[in-house]
Amino acid sequence: MNPTHTLLPEHRLNELINALVEQGWYVGHDFISPSLHAPLFDEVMRKAEHNALTAAGIGRGRDHHRRTDIRGDTIQWLNRESQAQRRYLDAMGELQQALNKALFLGLFEYEAHFAYYPAGAFYKRHLDSFRGRANRVISTVSYLNPDWPSDAGGEMAIFTPETAAPVGQDCEEEQQIIARVQPKAGTFACFLSEQIPHAVLPTRLPRASIAGWFRVNTSLNSTVDPAH
Ligand code: OGA
Ligand code: MN
Repeated sequence: MNPTHTLLPEHRLNELINALVEQGWYVGHDFISPSLHAPLFDEVMRKAEHNALTAAGIGRGRDHHRRTDIRGDTIQWLNRESQAQRRYLDAMGELQQALNKALFLGLFEYEAHFAYYPAGAFYKRHLDSFRGRANRVISTVSYLNPDWPSDAGGEMAIFTPETAAPVGQDCEEEQQIIARVQPKAGTFACFLSEQIPHAVLPTRLPRASIAGWFRVNTSLNSTVDPAH
């Protein structure tokens, strides 16, 4: 790749890094260019039409199972099979380098999947990673729908960050929605996987996105880390 050509402008990367440090999450509009999100949208819609996507599950490795009462999306992992995928993954590689340089996170891998939520689907409030099994460190979501009417639902809700609760205190009721993200093409969300609870509110229209995670290498602590 031409080293002077970058997919993500430096001032947007700086804006993202500052927000992650200050509040643990970032949402940037017009962050991904139309020349990149348009072919990705075409690709995921084609896959959805041809039933090439698989019902998503929850949990990893042997714990993985389907729970449509928790999440209703269908997915396919990115594998660099198209030019659009390669460019997207290259852009995330630039983000990985910028995060490692600024925050010494030691991120070593990025994994991402297309996600397609049919009308009526949702993903209940969850964390993408749990402390103690630190593998997913930073979550990313790129939205792909070129138009998103404001009454179509399907927002990503971001909740108050999780902090260590005093013993015996039930934090559940204190969870407040602090931001709502319209899933419109070009918008990019990024947050700390272990600390930012989030949800996909029920969508009224088919909703396409790419969810991804930067990971650290956990193969050192004697268990083999499953790929997905
Ligand atoms: C996920 C997720 C959010 C979104 O896939 O883990 O939370 O807005 N996605 O698609
Ligand atoms: Mn999530």
